[in-house]
Amino acid sequence: MNISASRVIALVNQKGGVGKSTTAVNLGAALAVLGQSVLVIDDDPQGNTTTGLGVEKSTIGASVYDVLMGRVHIAEALRATEIERLQLVPATISLAGAEIELVSELSRETRLREALGSLTDAYDYIVIDSPPSLGLLTINALVAANEAMIPVQAEYYALEGLSQLTHVINRVREALNPGLHVSGVLVTMYDGRTRLAVEVLAELERYFPQQIFKTQIPRNVRLSEAPSFGKPVILFDPKSRGAQAYMSLAREMLELASVHA
Ligand SMILES: Nc1ncnc2c1ncn2[C@@H]1O[C@H](COP(=O)(O)OP(=O)(O)OP(=O)(O)O)[C@@H](O)[C@H]1O
Ligand SMILES: [Mg+2]
Repeated sequence: MNISASRVIALVNQKGGVGKSTTAVNLGAALAVLGQSVLVIDDDPQGNTTTGLGVEKSTIGASVYDVLMGRVHIAEALRATEIERLQLVPATISLAGAEIELVSELSRETRLREALGSLTDAYDYIVIDSPPSLGLLTINALVAANEAMIPVQAEYYALEGLSQLTHVINRVREALNPGLHVSGVLVTMYDGRTRLAVEVLAELERYFPQQIFKTQIPRNVRLSEAPSFGKPVILFDPKSRGAQAYMSLAREMLELASVHA
């Protein structure tokens, strides 16, 4: 195994608003702050990760759309961010068209993986945000990745849709990407004072034994404020519980990596 190749993590959950983009921005930033070289790819036409990392939509030239359509080399779409060692491939709303345009194209599921190519060797971590659907953009993220990370909001309907998601991950593994595995379920917007959140966590542990990250992301208003300043929370309010939680998630991932190495 080539240990210099990066870990490519797809953040997936077809349920909207569970913290995929917040995690792409803040986990990416936390890993970079800890000295890792990180590429974040915004594979969602909503572009929340792009905004959250401070890239103005009006300044975007080449985006992930052009990369998927084979119009530019991915290197031309790279953008620097305020954090050293953290780069971004931005998304614009034009990506919404890709889902339809790709349908008739060859190798439509493997576009992102092919585009990444040897670039994976240039980073320690590549983190891919995906939209709230199980369409071609999410499939491209899963095919390009070697691990799927599933953010789950600790609330009543949290488990709804997870069996369908697991099914899609299994299908992608069988058909296109034998190395893909679920690296973990990340519990987001967690409030341990409520009985419901505790119950949901227990239920998730039954459903995904040994696959829940020890770190939970608490509900923290600084996490929801930071994107409007175009900053990861670690720059916006480093002492906040949200910033500390994403730092601890990043440390947990690095520790797990060193155990497995
Ligand atoms: N831990 C948290 N505490 C407080 N607010 C949060 C937290 N995580 C995310 N949010 C807020 O919740 C909303 C949804 O989060 P986010 O955009 O990350 O979810 P998503 O899964 O990417 O959504 P979508 O599926 O629409 O892309 C955002 O307004 C975000 O700022
Ligand atoms: Mg999102």
